[in-house]
Amino acid sequence: MSVDPAEVVNDFRQAFNGQSPPLIARAPGRINLIGEHTDYHDGFVLPAAIDREVLIAAGPRDDQTLQVLATAYNEHATIDLRTLRVAGIAGKTRWNDYIAGTAWALGEAGHKLVGANMAVRSDVPIGAGLASSACLEMAVARALCAISGIPWDAVVMAKLARKAENAFVGVHCGIMDQLVSGIGIAGHALLLDCRSLTVEPVAMPADLSIVVMDTGIRRSLDTTEYAARRDACTVVLSATQERQADIRTLRDVDLPLLESIRQEVGITAFRRATHVIAENARPAQLAAALTVGDWQLAGKLINASHASLRDLYEVSTPELDLITDLAKDTAGCYGARMTGAGFGGSAIALVTSEAAKSFVSHVSAAYRAKGPSTGEVFACQLVSGASILSI
Ligand code: GLA
Repeated sequence: MSVDPAEVVNDFRQAFNGQSPPLIARAPGRINLIGEHTDYHDGFVLPAAIDREVLIAAGPRDDQTLQVLATAYNEHATIDLRTLRVAGIAGKTRWNDYIAGTAWALGEAGHKLVGANMAVRSDVPIGAGLASSACLEMAVARALCAISGIPWDAVVMAKLARKAENAFVGVHCGIMDQLVSGIGIAGHALLLDCRSLTVEPVAMPADLSIVVMDTGIRRSLDTTEYAARRDACTVVLSATQERQADIRTLRDVDLPLLESIRQEVGITAFRRATHVIAENARPAQLAAALTVGDWQLAGKLINASHASLRDLYEVSTPELDLITDLAKDTAGCYGARMTGAGFGGSAIALVTSEAAKSFVSHVSAAYRAKGPSTGEVFACQLVSGASILSI
């Protein structure tokens, strides 16, 4: 457990006249081992929920409002459940938009929500590529379902949380982050098919550790760049659909077909789609390598993914390239790559467990010596998805 439940209980008592919260909901952040920028093309991903989490102490209210204290921001928000509507967000997204958006999506799905008091704590670094917004949405969904007597179905709720982010917050992300935050399995990564939403758990071998390397560079997903990558791929999709009517998304396009429209779509769109198509094969390959214990192959796939994201999809940064290079030069490392959307944020390294401790101290010192001093390097544990904690 990353955030101490006693702290969020304490926050709740302080914010709400000494009352004890009836429940605590939690939802984890995630790393993605491989399959980057494939989820919104209906493709494959291999993420895992990690021991960085959002905790919400919550209890019902008699009125139709959510009263929320967010410790990370030292801010309080009142959200009126009767007036929630998609307003077209102007300016920067605020933390309470994720909360309001989740309540809105539950309402849109026909659920009757009870008002609630909530105290929110998180140790998922914000904007670090570890799904801080998705796990906030999933923790809110978990808390609101418990308070309002709505049966919990993690997949249904992940879809609603994604809808909140797409339609209410205005970020056109895929389903990966919300889904793994909802259905994570301790000790496992999940091979997810983002079209059928089928899941194959992949046990993480005990002699391997996943190390998170946060570059300290923050990004905001609602930058135009994430949308620009999607747009470039849409150009390719339309061109392929003119040739083959059964193509629904880039997942259905193969490299020969892409090659045949190279001139028509232009070099940038061609390179973006080349990444997506090649990357889409890697989650199953990495899952197989982990299952048979071929760490060298696992590392090669991870390195190839980073190179593709850097050179073809162009979502890496100098700091992500630096920290992955430092990792690859450090004893015990099989491979390293950026994780999440990119444009800043975190990378991950696959490291032999024996060497994990020395790897962490070596890479953090080497990065600090050459890069920003704000990064954080830590080995993570793989945990289960959103739940209610007993108190
Ligand atoms: C963000 C989005 C995900 C996914 C990744 C890139 O984390 O929320 O849906 O697109 O970027 O793989």
